[in-house]
This record gives sequence, structure tokens and C-alpha cells, in this order.
Amino acid sequence: MTQLRRPPARAGGFCFDPLPGSPFGTLARAESGAGLAAVMAAAERSPDVLPAAMDAADGLLVLRGLLEIASAPRRLVELSRLFGPEVEDYRLALVPASMVHPEVPEILIVSNVAPVSRQPPARPVPPLTADGRLPTQFPHRRGWHSDQSYRRPPPDVSLFYAMQPTPQGQGQTLYANGIAAYEALPPELARQVEGLVGLHTRSGTGRTEQAVRAGETPRPLAPHERPQRQPVVRVHPVTGRRALFLCEAGQMDWVDGPFVGMEPGPDGAGAELLYALMRHATDPRFTYTHEWERGDLVIYDNRTVLHTATWFDATAHERVMWRTTVMGNPGPEYAGEARSWLVRSS
Ligand SMILES: [Fe+2]
Repeated sequence: MTQLRRPPARAGGFCFDPLPGSPFGTLARAESGAGLAAVMAAAERSPDVLPAAMDAADGLLVLRGLLEIASAPRRLVELSRLFGPEVEDYRLALVPASMVHPEVPEILIVSNVAPVSRQPPARPVPPLTADGRLPTQFPHRRGWHSDQSYRRPPPDVSLFYAMQPTPQGQGQTLYANGIAAYEALPPELARQVEGLVGLHTRSGTGRTEQAVRAGETPRPLAPHERPQRQPVVRVHPVTGRRALFLCEAGQMDWVDGPFVGMEPGPDGAGAELLYALMRHATDPRFTYTHEWERGDLVIYDNRTVLHTATWFDATAHERVMWRTTVMGNPGPEYAGEARSWLVRSS
């Protein structure tokens, strides 16, 4: 089946081009000119166009050259509001205060620079594939996840902005199309994922694959920290399309999961299935590698797209990225639920 995974070439003051080198996603620009002001003006006139383009492109939308956001961070929050009813306030999100932008608490700072000091993932071994490419496929490439999947309801969309990227060739972000991966599942895997439920957890609880393999004792968890169940086949609330919704080592629960009702633990039948699904979902025919330039904004739908960070030389380069998260439309499965991650007083 041939599927056009991008929007019409022009709509509502924007032009949409195929994303170079990618099997999905779209590259958007304002018809009236380059820069942030043109994008904001077109988005104000036609607020539904960018979200519709993202939906048409299977959940990946790239805008480039938005250098002005660096000195006008609230514009990033305004752009984020196009993609859903609520932009997360990171002061409520159980992240270290050093990662929250001091003036705009809707911005999470992802950086190896102090005080955030978050180090990049390890370099894959070997660093390139046999044909000399950057590895994307699990398990050569690790760290694939959907943002904050350990919450119910999980968030909708993330916006990731390059304040200060690394030189190209390192520090990329990889994206995988969960819709295309679902549609291309071999029959045996398709049968196994129907109705399957994943158990997602945050790191630091002693329940990740690394922690379980290291023999850590899982610590007792308060209600707001506990692993959460999520459907492995997620139905998008706007398009109705089905996507694989999975993470791997650092964001699935390897004590009781990764799947409800299957043999648990890192050597169980559940792990074997997860590895097979993750290998499939991150096949190069479903993935895109984004090489960052200053001023790039990548908008991705966590309901249908997986992603992972890559290594960069943190001894030589300072990298500063800003992220916002939009939530409020997770789908009917979550209707009326209290937020699992908030500390409740009663
Ligand atoms: Fe992420």
C-alpha cells in the first residue's frame, strides 16, 4: 500500500515540502518569508494548518531558521499552544529545578552545560553500521522512547528547539514512525500486539532494564511514581490511525513488565517480544535522522512517533536545547482520568 505521508504542498499561508532524507514528516515554511515573524503571522491567521500538516505527515513537522526564539522564549510557548489545549508547566513535572527555564516554566532545558549538566548517551558500538552509516536500528541504537510515557494520561506533542546544537555529524535526534511500523508488522507480531498492554516507568526507580540487570532493589514508590499501563497499539485521537507505542530499556518496567500478562523480566518472553517489536519499529525504512542547526524546531507527536538522542563529544561541545510538551488530547482511552504523576494530598 502506498501511503502519502505528507500534507498538501500549500495551505493557509504555509508551504510544505518533503523532509529531506526521511520516509515521513514534512518541512514547513511560511509563504510570506523566512524567520519567526512570518511563521507566527501565518499561524495566527490559520491556527489549524500546522497541526493538520503534522497529522498528515504521520506526526513529524520541522521548521528551520527560527533564530528569534532564542531571545523571545515565550514565542515557543505560543507556537506550542497550536498543538493542544495545555502546555506543561515544568515546575509541576518532577524534574530538577535546574532544568526549568528561569523565566518561562513551560520550557525544559536539555543541556550538558551546568547547572543542567545532562550527559549525552553512549556512542554505539561500533560507532557506524557496516555500510558506514549512523546506526538507527535497535539494538545497535538504544534509548528509543516516547516522552513521559510513564504518565497516564501521557502527553500529546513535544516541540524541540535548537538554541545551541553541536556541529553536524553528532548530537542528532532520531525519529521513528510508529504508524508505518504498525502497518508493516509481520503477521505474527501483529497478532501478538493486539490488545497488548505495556508497563512504563521512569528511570531512577530501580525498575529499568539496566537497574534490574545490575541487581538493584526496586525502591518503594509513592502513588504518583508508580509504573503506568499503556496500550501497545495506540489509536490517534484526531486521525484514528494506529501506531506502535513502546519504549525500551530505560522507560519500560522490567520488574513486572515489560508487558502485562507475559513472563516478566529482562530474559522473559515479554522482553523477547519487546526486542522484536523495537527492532522492527526502528528499521531504517521508518526512521529519520535530524542533523540540528541553530534555530531548528522539530515538532513530534508522542502518540505516534518514537525518538532517541545520539552521542556527541561533551568534552568539546556545549549543547543547549529547549523543549515544551503539549498535553490534553490523549484519546478516549484516558477520558476523565486523574493525572497519575501529580502528588495528591488526600
Ligand atoms: Fe525524549
